[in-house]
Amino acid sequence: MRISVFGIGYVGAVTAACLCKDGHHVVAVDVNDVKVNEINDGLAPIAEPGLAPLIAEAVASGQLRATDRSEEAVHTTELSIICVGTPSRLNGSLDTRYVLKVAEEIGTAIAAKTERHHVVMRSTILPGTMVESVIPALECAAGGVAGRDFGVAYYPEFLRESTSIADYYDPGTIVFGKLDEDTITKLRSLVARIGVEPIVVDMTTAEAVKYTNNAWHALKVSFANEIGNVCKGSRIDGHEVMRILCSDKRLNISPAYLMPGFAFGGSCLPKDLRALRYKARTIDVATPVLDAAMTANEIQLDRAFHMVASTGARRLGLLGLSF
Ligand SMILES: NC(=O)c1ccc[n+]([C@@H]2O[C@H](COP(=O)([O-])OP(=O)(O)OC[C@H]3O[C@@H](n4cnc5c(N)ncnc54)[C@H](O)[C@@H]3O)[C@@H](O)[C@H]2O)c1
Repeated sequence: MRISVFGIGYVGAVTAACLCKDGHHVVAVDVNDVKVNEINDGLAPIAEPGLAPLIAEAVASGQLRATDRSEEAVHTTELSIICVGTPSRLNGSLDTRYVLKVAEEIGTAIAAKTERHHVVMRSTILPGTMVESVIPALECAAGGVAGRDFGVAYYPEFLRESTSIADYYDPGTIVFGKLDEDTITKLRSLVARIGVEPIVVDMTTAEAVKYTNNAWHALKVSFANEIGNVCKGSRIDGHEVMRILCSDKRLNISPAYLMPGFAFGGSCLPKDLRALRYKARTIDVATPVLDAAMTANEIQLDRAFHMVASTGARRLGLLGLSF
């Protein structure tokens, strides 16, 4: 396939190199001349194990080149992948100006193209951004309807810096956010070599999956650190404790307790969380993650109460009385 990759940052450089390794032809697009020149000189624009030889080989074989001209890139390819940055603004909100600018550029190029084009978003964007902002920007510039006149999909990236090439070929999961069937068919052919069956959902769900993944990873790191701190303060080996926790694949590293629903309760979890937090206070260790778990649980109980109370019903039936 002939593919244009917009944004030669971490994600774009790795994506472009791996696509070339898989036999595709890639035009990499960036507004940064230094990165464009580096690619055209066969050099990797970022330091990442294994990337430099892939870029050198792809440029030498004529499969990879870079440009700052988006229109030419769209016209010489059949599918564009957007990998530009989506940084935080000072107030924490997501700055989508680069993805919207690129969507507008690609849309303008599509307007002047006769063959069908496909646009795939890989940048991390909040749920609803494709439907509410990116697709309208593409349609406005292209003068057409997404899904009918050109293809669109959202394909979140889960790579980790420093192991990104290995992650590209061995992903935990592949998720496609779908608008039209033929863009999904193109994406399926791109990942066929990887051997992981993609999960196809609507675009907003795919956007939500990316944020949920990252929030989960952040929560895991902070939980492990907090347990490590409590253990250290009690002269216990926190590494061993967490290693044993992770060895339980039935209740701990498993889907158990990971379904949205009602609050936790029963005779153990609230009592034991309270005691662990009290113990941590006595050794001057802060436990914001455990504290938040208790607060979140109280809020969940309140939500449930208000959901019931707001029905106005006076006679209630309870299904399930295990606790
Ligand atoms: N870095 C990671 O590990 C990682 C992993 C998964 C997802 N992501 C997400 O992928 C996206 C890209 O991340 P990154 O780390 O590769 O970003 P980056 O900042 O390293 O690179 C972004 C590139 O986009 C270019 N760019 C900006 N505007 C452009 C335009 N109009 N046309 C062409 N190029 C333009 C910039 O010059 C830059 O080279 C972000 O949304 C990020 O959240 C990153």
